[in-house]
Amino acid sequence: MSPVSSSRDVREIKDTVASARVIDSTNRKRAGAVLDAEEIAGVVTDFVHDRIPDYQMAAWLATIACTGLSTAELVALTRAYTVGGGHLDLSEVDGAVVDKHSTGGVGDTTTLIVVPVVAACGVPVAKMTGRALGFTGGTLDKLESIKGLRTSVPVGEIVPMLKSVGMVITGQSADLTPGDGVTYALRDVTGTVESIPLIAASIISKKVAVRADGLVLDVKTGAGALIQDRDRAVRLTETMLDLARAFGLSARAVLSDMSQPLGPAVGNALEIRQALAVLRGERIPGLWELCAAVCRLMLRSVDPLLTDEQATARIERVLDDGSAYEMFVRWAVAQGADAAVLEAERLPTAAHRLVVRAPESGWVTRVEPRAVGNAGLLLGAGRLTYDAPLDHGAGVLLRHRVGDRVGKGDVLAELFYDRGDTDTARTLVASAFQVGDRAVTAPPVVRQIFGAEGV
Ligand code: URA
Repeated sequence: MSPVSSSRDVREIKDTVASARVIDSTNRKRAGAVLDAEEIAGVVTDFVHDRIPDYQMAAWLATIACTGLSTAELVALTRAYTVGGGHLDLSEVDGAVVDKHSTGGVGDTTTLIVVPVVAACGVPVAKMTGRALGFTGGTLDKLESIKGLRTSVPVGEIVPMLKSVGMVITGQSADLTPGDGVTYALRDVTGTVESIPLIAASIISKKVAVRADGLVLDVKTGAGALIQDRDRAVRLTETMLDLARAFGLSARAVLSDMSQPLGPAVGNALEIRQALAVLRGERIPGLWELCAAVCRLMLRSVDPLLTDEQATARIERVLDDGSAYEMFVRWAVAQGADAAVLEAERLPTAAHRLVVRAPESGWVTRVEPRAVGNAGLLLGAGRLTYDAPLDHGAGVLLRHRVGDRVGKGDVLAELFYDRGDTDTARTLVASAFQVGDRAVTAPPVVRQIFGAEGV
């Protein structure tokens, strides 16, 4: 064998060993083996350090998505995502800090509303968030619609910002959860998003790194959720609550309806405008009900003596007196945005608009969320490949929800775009709507609350 002659050769040898290890791990997992913690950490660390190629990691993740993970494997994967990362020391922040996370959906602007509302109520919120996944939107992509706003806050700045502003929203940081950062992006473009253990490990790893005193999980169920079936969504909720507990975190959860888009806006800048409207006091049906429930749970999770009614009164007060909106602006400025730009809502706007009209009079009986999410994706609001550029002004604005009465020719939705496959997008949005001749009632947005006993 020839001697190792350069660092490149050394690197190639390391890559071969790492590749052999991940292939072996994939094969054994597929054959029914239980992976040990060291092996799981090894694969994730190799991927973080670029020692194995995307396609081998994608095969490993796809195998996990198909076979599932035991509790011990799930704990090991969650921990592996944080290996090499730091964690926050929130002890310097006065009072309890709270965190929330949603499993993602269509028209889900919840984070951009509940974080400033709860922070304005005097409870600091530290939130690590992600990009769009599949057909669902991502808070980070939405925030990039705000010129100048830094979506990645260095770990060392998070605690000072929590103390001075009261809230932080930052991208999943390579400093905190290196493994989640790289696998999240890979899952998005390799069809490995919709898996209970992969979602649970991804979300809880970020929560472990932040280690807030209270945590509220918003798990979606219905056609526009990553996990559509209600029983499986309940399983995801229970899996995450157990996992959080295994890491010593105190968590509560809400199971929420995603059988239609949560809010009318689907697309990055459109959703920022929607969030600002709510923070200025507009109670958008569906979206607001969920935001109010999540805010109540967040407030009560760190203040056991607070009643539901008292929590509601605090939330209403910070909306009515403008302090929730002011909190958003103060935070955005602290993360680099220009207050004047934000106040004037100078956000990206698409140049073109198309409308979808009601083919007949009746009641809206269905707004299929995946079709709407995929239409947004085709217009450039989401990405189909790693590095696809987003069009932050593009998206869909829904003018009606399930249960609304419409007349023939009424506008059901508007599509905003600069490029993309607009014909298919329009067909998708048109097919998403069903108009029937009988009135229907939409299911409640809040389907179930978990772990709230004693709050
Ligand atoms: N949100 C995350 O952070 N990770 C997932 O896998 C899904 C939703």
